[in-house]
Amino acid sequence: YVLGIDLGTSAVKVSAVDRTGHIAAQESYDYPLSQPQPGYSEQNPDEWVNGTAVAIVRLILNHHIRPAEIAGISYSGQMHGLVLLDAQHKVLRPAMLWNDTRTTAQCQEIEAKLGDRFIEITGNRPLEGFTLPKILWVKENEPDIWAKAATFLLPKDYVRYRMTGKLAIDYSDATGTVMLDIKQGAWSQEILDAFDIPASMCPLLINSVTEVGPISETFAIFSGLHQSTRVFGGAADNAAAALGAGIIAPNMVLCSIGTSGVILKHEASADTAYHGVLQMEDHAVTGQSYSMGVTLAAGYSLSWYKRTFAAHEDFTHLVNEAAQSTIGANGLLFTPYIMGERTPYADANIRGSFIGIDGTHQRPDFTRAVLEGIIFSFRDLLDIYDAQHQTYDTIVSVGGGAKSPLWLQIQADVFNTPVVRLENEQGPGMGAAMLAAVGLGWFASFADCAKAFVHYGQTYQPNVANAQRYAALHQIYHQVYGQTKELSRQLL
Ligand code: XUL
Repeated sequence: YVLGIDLGTSAVKVSAVDRTGHIAAQESYDYPLSQPQPGYSEQNPDEWVNGTAVAIVRLILNHHIRPAEIAGISYSGQMHGLVLLDAQHKVLRPAMLWNDTRTTAQCQEIEAKLGDRFIEITGNRPLEGFTLPKILWVKENEPDIWAKAATFLLPKDYVRYRMTGKLAIDYSDATGTVMLDIKQGAWSQEILDAFDIPASMCPLLINSVTEVGPISETFAIFSGLHQSTRVFGGAADNAAAALGAGIIAPNMVLCSIGTSGVILKHEASADTAYHGVLQMEDHAVTGQSYSMGVTLAAGYSLSWYKRTFAAHEDFTHLVNEAAQSTIGANGLLFTPYIMGERTPYADANIRGSFIGIDGTHQRPDFTRAVLEGIIFSFRDLLDIYDAQHQTYDTIVSVGGGAKSPLWLQIQADVFNTPVVRLENEQGPGMGAAMLAAVGLGWFASFADCAKAFVHYGQTYQPNVANAQRYAALHQIYHQVYGQTKELSRQLL
């Protein structure tokens, strides 16, 4: 077997996959998200490590996976999160996550200092979620902690460190720090100098398939894993999701709904100019790139809605209830800006809305409005590609959004494009398993591995009448941002 460890924002999910790409067993472990103040989003890195170990122990015990049969392990990790370590590699403060938006002032500083040169170097604009602004925030607001900081890692790199004792970061996550020169494939000395960050803080850069080492003795005892198991670099979750969905050729598009939501397009090189409107990142496949737009609260909007208004309801039942409403949720519109929004607005202060609440509305209308609002936010992302005449003919849907036939049809209708789901909707975990499989040499290339591991399921075709109706509704949706921007700010 290979193990794919998918270190997400709400849980870690571990999948044991055999040589044919079949998922033999899966276990997960949930952990909390701490939001001590609006805009703050933190987790304790130890929870990731303990959760990973518990999921592995369960995998071994509940599914009779023999540790000696686990040949390799790799990772998919929530992106951008800052794990700050001291010289003894002890965690200095809770990790600041990708959806933590406290760093607006630091983004402005970066913008003021480097302007467009920053986009030239990193392929990205400085946005709140990225790692560099978080580093600057700590430097400016927690000088005592900064004084002790010796290095940093991203979330899955920290878990890998605890599993192997080796410090490293892979390129797909390194681009997400916005400290990497995306064309040179090296830490940017210009950026480090501009913000007085010692180069010694930056971890060793590796490829996603690079072998990092065996499982350490300590972690082997802790988790039941065998020390002979080989550990490979891993990738940013969106890169891993793309790989797991077979997005390894130009113009293929992914729609992924986890806590965040992502529309991602494969790019042959990092040169495609989106001028920072979209993110540009290194792929898990060495030498390839992808661009993407991110909705901060996609699955998170739905889980917030369920937790707040339907806590005791079964998730599938709640989502299916939306079928009792109609297209446009009987005149109810939701914008998912409950944690601010990244693309296309880069606005940490916008907040979500329900618009058009009527005395006749029932819960299915609210549920449907939430499902539709999330997909409308994705339509905004596709519009960026359309405006640049970028073509795509199929969208592969993964994650929570690919579990419900109703939600998949809403995607096809709102995107007005065929949407295909995977036989196994679990993109990032499968991508992580593929990295281990290729790293082990089970396959000569990612394309060969994808033939065995990636299986497409049903295609949802857009319905012409529904697509027209949704196009009109999206026009209205699109105006809500401008109309509520100032109000949101006043309410904060
Ligand atoms: C991507 C991003 C999110 C996280 C979710 O830039 O911030 O999609 O990767 O884990």
